[in-house]
Amino acid sequence: MKLTSANINIMVKACRKAAKTLIRDFGEIENLQVSLKGPGDYVTASDKKVEKILIEELQKARPNYSVLSEEIGEIKNDEEFKWIIDPIDGTANFLHGIPHFAISIGLEHNGEIICGIVYDPIKDEMFVAEKGNGSYLNNQRMRVSARSKLKDCIIFTGGPKRESKDRELTLEEYKKFSSEVLIPIRKLGSASLDMAYVAAGRCDGFWQRNLNYWDIAAGIILVKEAGGFLTDFNGEKEYIQNKSILVTNSKISKEMIEVLK
Ligand code: IPD
Ligand code: CA
Ligand code: CA
Repeated sequence: MKLTSANINIMVKACRKAAKTLIRDFGEIENLQVSLKGPGDYVTASDKKVEKILIEELQKARPNYSVLSEEIGEIKNDEEFKWIIDPIDGTANFLHGIPHFAISIGLEHNGEIICGIVYDPIKDEMFVAEKGNGSYLNNQRMRVSARSKLKDCIIFTGGPKRESKDRELTLEEYKKFSSEVLIPIRKLGSASLDMAYVAAGRCDGFWQRNLNYWDIAAGIILVKEAGGFLTDFNGEKEYIQNKSILVTNSKISKEMIEVLK
């Protein structure tokens, strides 16, 4: 089965076009001009090129939609619809030649994400979701995992960045997980793919604080439409406002909230 709608088709087309540049640049990584934006947060020439292609393509098809994109910020237009773009999610991996990064695009309608796409150009994996129509990986329906015991799970986490004062807390969380709960934790370096993998049932949960909206916008709908849960660390559904997010399959949500307390 295939997920097709006008907006999904526009997003897929934009992604595929931008991915050509991304794949080419990944192959020539040594030649890329790199400038430091802040500790742990790099901007590459590729980021900007990819962003430009995405915005051009999306605006060609939907000239009235607003845009929020990591590098250029906001383009204000019609407030009803907004593209939320992360041109490369997993920049540090990209810069180190690690083939694990993605293009992430979410579409917001009156403040709610209604479509999302996370595309891993190296593995050619296209994760797509639309409100009410399900989540798909390369045209195959996705469901979150059914694992209910934390000891059988794999949980992802990420960040926070070096300047974050919450960093120690995350190290504490690591210790807690590894000494008390004994479950494998992975830190793969791309929040959008972390969420896509929860949606695909490859891993069972993901938590992180200090995320930006563009890191998670597409992931939100991927997880929801695959039957997963999204909350903040207290189990409240306010994850966007405070930017701490807990994503789980439908079985381990309560247990994870207990562990993160
Ligand atoms: C980062 C990645 C990473 C997460 C960071 C994000 P970027 O995005 O998603 O996994 O831990 O918090 O900033 O900088 O590669 O777009
Ligand atoms: Ca990001
Ligand atoms: Ca990015």
